[in-house]
Amino acid sequence: MDSSFEWLKAYNFISFETTTSTNDQAFNLAKEELLHNHVISAKSQSSGRGSKGRKWISEEGNLYFSILLVRFDDIAYSPIFSFMMANIVADVLDDYIAGNDKIIIELKWPNDILLNQKKIAGILVESITISEINYVVIGVGINVNHHPILEERHIMPSSLLKEGIIISDTQIFLNKLINHFDRQYKIWQQNKNFESIKNYWLSRAYKLGDEVNINLAGKNRTGIFRGLGIDGQLIMQLPNNGDIIYYYSGELT
Ligand code: BTN
Repeated sequence: MDSSFEWLKAYNFISFETTTSTNDQAFNLAKEELLHNHVISAKSQSSGRGSKGRKWISEEGNLYFSILLVRFDDIAYSPIFSFMMANIVADVLDDYIAGNDKIIIELKWPNDILLNQKKIAGILVESITISEINYVVIGVGINVNHHPILEERHIMPSSLLKEGIIISDTQIFLNKLINHFDRQYKIWQQNKNFESIKNYWLSRAYKLGDEVNINLAGKNRTGIFRGLGIDGQLIMQLPNNGDIIYYYSGELT
């Protein structure tokens, strides 16, 4: 994986000691109607945001960054970036664990990265349209050295360090992630092909083919996780009549 600063040719880079949320900073830049893609990182965040309206506790020692894509064709495509970015985080982590088959990386629908069935990273993709110009923000939080203590969850959090991955230089880690993203994004801009991203994601999918439970707005359903739809929807097959249900969001356990 390329650990150079090659990506700086394509992205402006803003790094904060601390900020509210790198996703919010990306939105502030979008409001200035910028012409360049940006990467915004912070050593800590005071109002880090997670998916489903949750907080993302963001103390120093972990990686917090957002990629701002300007002049984006169509925000209907934005959900694919959760899957593309999850593939990228997994590929880069593969680099760090080469030869250690005790560490298992899995991707949990829709936006989590698991190591040994514990959550070590999450992705929050958001978008905004200003004066008919679309902006997509891909926020990534990776528990490099520590993880928050959360109330009992089906999937507990962990950190790379705790799972045996030592990141001695976070800038090199970030370089690898953005270089890889830049290449994948360029490929996608040419072919708009979600199929290959989807299949690659599915090759590491947590609980694919197993019985899963999806909680959506307090309503639970159990069925078999059969795959992903054309926009990344989860395909569930119900056990009693074999009917297929597509989930655009929800909590998978
Ligand atoms: C999740 O809930 O799993 C998604 C977490 C996303 C956290 C990242 S940290 C960088 C960026 N800024 C934020 O406020 N959130 C995202």
